[in-house]
Amino acid sequence: MAADKCVHGVPPSLSAKVVGSFAYLTIRDRLPTILTKVVDTIHRNKNKFFEEYGEEGIQAEKQTIGLLSKLRNELQTDKPVLALTDSLQDAESWNQYLQRHQGPQGDQDSVSWFQSPWLYVECYMYRRIQEALWLNPPISDYDVFNEAKTQSYFESQQAVMALCTYLGGVNKSKEELSKNQLLDTFNKLLKVSLWGNKCDLSISAGQKNSQKTSPLDSLSSLQPFILVDDSNLVWLTLISAQSQGLSGKITAGRVDIVLDNAGFELVSDLVLADFLISSGLVREVHFHGKCFPWFVSDVTANDFQWTIRQTMAANHMWMSKSGVRWQSYVKEGVWSYHDHPFWTQPHEFSDMAADAPDLYATLQGADLVLFKGDLNYRKLTGDRDWDHTAGFDTALRGFTPAPLCSLRTLKANVQVGLQPGQGEKLTSQEPDWMTSGKYAVIQFHSPKSEQ
Ligand code: F6P
Ligand code: MG
Repeated sequence: MAADKCVHGVPPSLSAKVVGSFAYLTIRDRLPTILTKVVDTIHRNKNKFFEEYGEEGIQAEKQTIGLLSKLRNELQTDKPVLALTDSLQDAESWNQYLQRHQGPQGDQDSVSWFQSPWLYVECYMYRRIQEALWLNPPISDYDVFNEAKTQSYFESQQAVMALCTYLGGVNKSKEELSKNQLLDTFNKLLKVSLWGNKCDLSISAGQKNSQKTSPLDSLSSLQPFILVDDSNLVWLTLISAQSQGLSGKITAGRVDIVLDNAGFELVSDLVLADFLISSGLVREVHFHGKCFPWFVSDVTANDFQWTIRQTMAANHMWMSKSGVRWQSYVKEGVWSYHDHPFWTQPHEFSDMAADAPDLYATLQGADLVLFKGDLNYRKLTGDRDWDHTAGFDTALRGFTPAPLCSLRTLKANVQVGLQPGQGEKLTSQEPDWMTSGKYAVIQFHSPKSEQ
């Protein structure tokens, strides 16, 4: 499935076939651990299924666990990847993708857990978890990662309070903010949203991961760990999206945020989005989330609504005020939540124009698209073995629906757009710099720079 050499200048996909690589360790160690936790969670909820669905719930629990144990065995013994058997909307496109990547004779053996692109098989595992649930109707909609996501939100309460209090202060004085103060606040909240990405649950195989202290206090000490900081280009893009009508009234642009994780990261994204709206920098924010539970902590529609409701109901003035405002943005359509099956498919984003033209067209309507997190970065760059000095534009391979920016802490070994020697220096000092979550990038690209 994966080529081992560059084909037409495009490097090979990362894969577990490189023994000892991060992809290899993920497939060998972390994914089976995640599957074991999923099985445990379903088993622990046996009584709940019985209360809700009676004997049928118990049968569904048993059968789902059976399917998941089989999946773990297939993974651990490097079995061929199987076509999906449920009849959900996206099953056909998954199966077509699988066929496209099989050998010329449709030879199943050519697509397997340890031999094929890491991006594909890791995404496939989450889709198979969903298949196991969907094949067992009474518990089809059960979110196996819900407990971990809500726990991560509650454990970050101190940080959430600090952030909402800061936002309250900014909103109170927003009329008096000079352009420099606006820029300063924007920079702070953009970086809080960036570092919020440290708090995902899949890197730690579902272990606790939350933000305990105020993220605002740590920003300056974290600055040296931002390897590429294009925040000024993001700001300029927002400013240039504003236009003045004949009446002198300023109309601002639309920002799309392709969300990553629930818990503290989502709050940090909502706070940024709130500031963009309340400051008048932006007219509308479109959030893009996942259609089903994904990579342990990713945001679904349910997580999005739950987080707003929970923040509204908090026993803390600034938190509840923030939650109430967020709810009203949603009601008024200033904020909107969207999902699309493409986000839970294994494709590189360079395939989007061909494979999900409707989504590509949607993103073209934005003045700026923020891509949160590591998995989105892997998909932006195709999860390939790029040289660190390759340009971000080169790695995007034509994916330029609108000016875009990746806000990502590094948790997988792909990184482009560095200065000559920068990657080598980091490797000699800290061999795990690309996977520890300690470093980050704010990496921007605009289609205009191609003209
Ligand atoms: O390897 C860690 C991992 O599972 C990666 O596959 C993935 O890129 C990352 O965790 C998820 O991180 P994020 O939530 O930032 O996308
Ligand atoms: Mg994630």
